[in-house]
Amino acid sequence: MAEPQFRTPKGTHDVLPEDHQYMTYIKKAVRHRARQAGYKRIDPPIFENRAIFERGIGEHTDIVEKELFIVSGKQRTEESESDVQFALRPEITAGICRSYIEHGMHLLPQPVELYAIGQCFRYDRPQKGRYRQFHQVDLELIGLKDPSLDAQLIHVCMNIFADLRIADRLTLQLNNIGNAENRRAFLVALKDFFIGKERHLPELDRKRLQTNPLRLLDSKEEDTRILLKSAPTLDQFIDDDSKQYHATLVEYLDELGVKHTANPSLVRGLDYYGQTVFEFWDSSSGAQNAVGGGGRYDGLIELLGGQPTPGVGVAMGVERMIWHMKQAGVTVPNKDHVDVFVAQLGPDAKKMCLTLIAKLREKGVHTIGALGEASLKSQMRLADKFGAKFTLLLGQMEVKEGKIILRDMAAGKQKSIKFENAVEEVLKLLGSENLDTYTLRDHFDED
Ligand code: HAM
Repeated sequence: MAEPQFRTPKGTHDVLPEDHQYMTYIKKAVRHRARQAGYKRIDPPIFENRAIFERGIGEHTDIVEKELFIVSGKQRTEESESDVQFALRPEITAGICRSYIEHGMHLLPQPVELYAIGQCFRYDRPQKGRYRQFHQVDLELIGLKDPSLDAQLIHVCMNIFADLRIADRLTLQLNNIGNAENRRAFLVALKDFFIGKERHLPELDRKRLQTNPLRLLDSKEEDTRILLKSAPTLDQFIDDDSKQYHATLVEYLDELGVKHTANPSLVRGLDYYGQTVFEFWDSSSGAQNAVGGGGRYDGLIELLGGQPTPGVGVAMGVERMIWHMKQAGVTVPNKDHVDVFVAQLGPDAKKMCLTLIAKLREKGVHTIGALGEASLKSQMRLADKFGAKFTLLLGQMEVKEGKIILRDMAAGKQKSIKFENAVEEVLKLLGSENLDTYTLRDHFDED
């Protein structure tokens, strides 16, 4: 076959029907667990004013420095026109916080619990589990601060992972990075420590020491890790309030039966965090491909122009969850199967089949057919390829006799029945529990 002329851009992929079965399953689990815990769905736009991410996530983070997809646009008023820069969202938290401020959600009963599912974009170097377009499930709890909220949020994630049958493949890494003052004092001490030692640091970390020294803590570079062994540690600078907060959170997680691992080097790659931070790591490969991560961001809403408002949240990578489900051998129901293929020959038969197909579909039977002008034999072959459970055949003879042939594809047996009984017969054979009927409520669940 010739090479296709066009392919998906590097780092992106088509979500093919096979993967959509997993995606739908994940979305259902998330909706179910989120609703149980009082979260409501929100969908901020996929692009926002670039400054929201720069200010929120931090100018010297990898995400903002290297990974933003910038979209240029024009802002027009009656009098003037100016250039404006948007960015495709690299995450959903900053957009949700912007929305909280814009819609005056501080007037609602607090905490406001919101969740979102959707695409995010990071112009990262693509590799296994790391894409330029990917999907996140995001949960945010805004407007109230208490360790019981952090614990409940983490518990909701654990329930989602358990529903997807991947919980035992993941470990929860937990840390408290103190308040802004604690981190400032620590960073002064860390920078002092590295004076005269810079040349031992790999280039990337030498730069980080200047722009975002906290990230040195989770550096993967061997030389940096060796130096860090004798460097001051963040926990020496954490104040008593943060320590107490963390101790209570740990107590609550234990109460809820959530297993966790203390990880003093966990700092996360976004600047808006303070106090609680956590990540769900692949138990076998560690930090490289975290399935989810989050933490507390009590300063973010103020940074974006709102009143000081606490918040805690988490995001989980959908592609990484799917990968784990496949690794764990988890299969999900395939709802795209074909129940009935309707084969026909001749213009009269084709016309009759159209209404027959419509009636079957209305009753919840997955039906395809009456497709073209091919012979009955080749239509039968097609029915087989589509994996249809039953085939209904209407030839010229059957039209004359008011009959139709019903064939059980697996058993290879067929019988002639009255045309008017066809729908009823099929329903009986499939069983009412296998019919795909929907009420409006289910319909809302699908997208
Ligand atoms: P994050 O750790 O940057 O946190 O991303 C969360 C999850 O998104 C990651 O654990 C990973 O599963 C997935 N992910 C991130 N980048 C990629 C990528 N390039 N390809 C595939 N999957 C990826 C946040 O985004 C924060 N907003 C989480 C949060 C919510 N904090 C508070 N509220």
